[in-house]
Amino acid sequence: MADPSVTIVDKQTGREAELPVYTGTHGKGAADVRGLENKLGYFTYDPGYASTASCRSAITFIDGDKGELLYRGYPIEQLAGHSSYLEVCYLLLYGELPSAKEMADFDDTITNHTMVNEGIKDFFAGFRYDAHPMAMLCGTVGALASFYHDSIDINNPEHREITAHRLIAKMPTIAAYCYKHYLGQPFMYPKNTVGYAENFLRMMFGVPSNKEFQPRETMVKALELIMILHADHEQNASTSTVRLAGSSGANPFACISAGIATLWGPAHGGANEAVIHMLDAIADSGASIDSTIARAKDKSDSFRLMGFGHRVYKNFDPRATLIRQMCHDLLAEMDGDTAKFQMAMELEQKVLADDYFVERRLYPNVDFYSGLILRAMGIPLNMFTVIFAMSRTVGWISHWLEMHQDPEYRIGRPQQVYTGAARRDYPVAK
Ligand code: ACO
Repeated sequence: MADPSVTIVDKQTGREAELPVYTGTHGKGAADVRGLENKLGYFTYDPGYASTASCRSAITFIDGDKGELLYRGYPIEQLAGHSSYLEVCYLLLYGELPSAKEMADFDDTITNHTMVNEGIKDFFAGFRYDAHPMAMLCGTVGALASFYHDSIDINNPEHREITAHRLIAKMPTIAAYCYKHYLGQPFMYPKNTVGYAENFLRMMFGVPSNKEFQPRETMVKALELIMILHADHEQNASTSTVRLAGSSGANPFACISAGIATLWGPAHGGANEAVIHMLDAIADSGASIDSTIARAKDKSDSFRLMGFGHRVYKNFDPRATLIRQMCHDLLAEMDGDTAKFQMAMELEQKVLADDYFVERRLYPNVDFYSGLILRAMGIPLNMFTVIFAMSRTVGWISHWLEMHQDPEYRIGRPQQVYTGAARRDYPVAK
């Protein structure tokens, strides 16, 4: 059988271009358009790159129609049920699940890199007391290059690996520092006898003068689940940014900082925060859930239900299915704003039974539940995206590592359709 290909015909000139089609392990094929310019003199036009595969990747696969998410081939449901965040980190970084010895060594390596250079505290002192934690995270991660300039040779595989370990290990410490600076409380050093998620909660909520902060087990479990579910999501905006920044040979800390900046946008990492803002606005206005749903269905009103629908997942978001039960368990156990949580549950139930949403395949997405969980845990709204960034760092750095081993990688340089002024002459005074 002939190798798969597609032929594009230029109807004006009658010329043809045959383009090879590549198929991966799963998913749709991709036509290689690299020869198109030479053959027909055209570029392709694809705003937002929604129809463009920018690379070959063996890390994560998503099938939006089936509601499937695989990390290195393993279904997210199985990883969420049986694995741990650090094991998922190993899997994403190295491609295979670790043996018991490999896991113990990896755990040890990450645990022994959790502290940050004391100089980073001075760096924090330069931020305004009320700086947004994402602004501090973005700046501090970029600044790590100035602390580790002796080991950021991107052509050295050992340097690349140690950087990946450092980032995964130090992210919770830096994230918690961002919060502590915002609160004006002393920084908490990491404690290497507790697990990754628990350590982060300790550094967030503990204070040196009080007795040791002991998070509830459900809280640790819920955070661990949120981190596993957010660890990677293939070529999304922030991951593609990390790759694009990395394609110029930029140092890895600068690339991850670029990813954090991209995640900060409300269309990407800010969705769970938007869920809570929406619930607050409903509560403050005294509107009923029925009238809120009616507004969301009204085409003359731009209001949409935050936390419902997804660009890729059209049947269900597998992450939402997993996190839903955890959300219900946590809300049943935790105190906090129970009236608002009840309102959220009423909204969830009514939307799931409403024809408008069922017909359009609009289901609660992962952010609907993660927003509620983080709120129930007492995490402030401006830390939601920081936690997302902390969880996604392993995905970003795995893609950055993969890119540096890809023989086809080139500097990212899209084309454009120029629509500005036609060539004209500068008016020289006669
Ligand atoms: N509330 C009410 N109606 C909605 C919603 C919603 N949340 N989402 C989509 N619709 C309706 C649209 O009005 C449209 O209706 P129509 O066919 O009658 O015109 C139909 O559903 C399809 O909507 P699209 O915008 O074409 O769907 P798309 O796939 O482009 O959008 C998106 C997906 C952006 C996520 C959308 O569902 C939305 O805005 N959701 C709310 C924001 C949100 O929760 N974002 C987080 C997504 S998860 C993540 O990014 C990590």
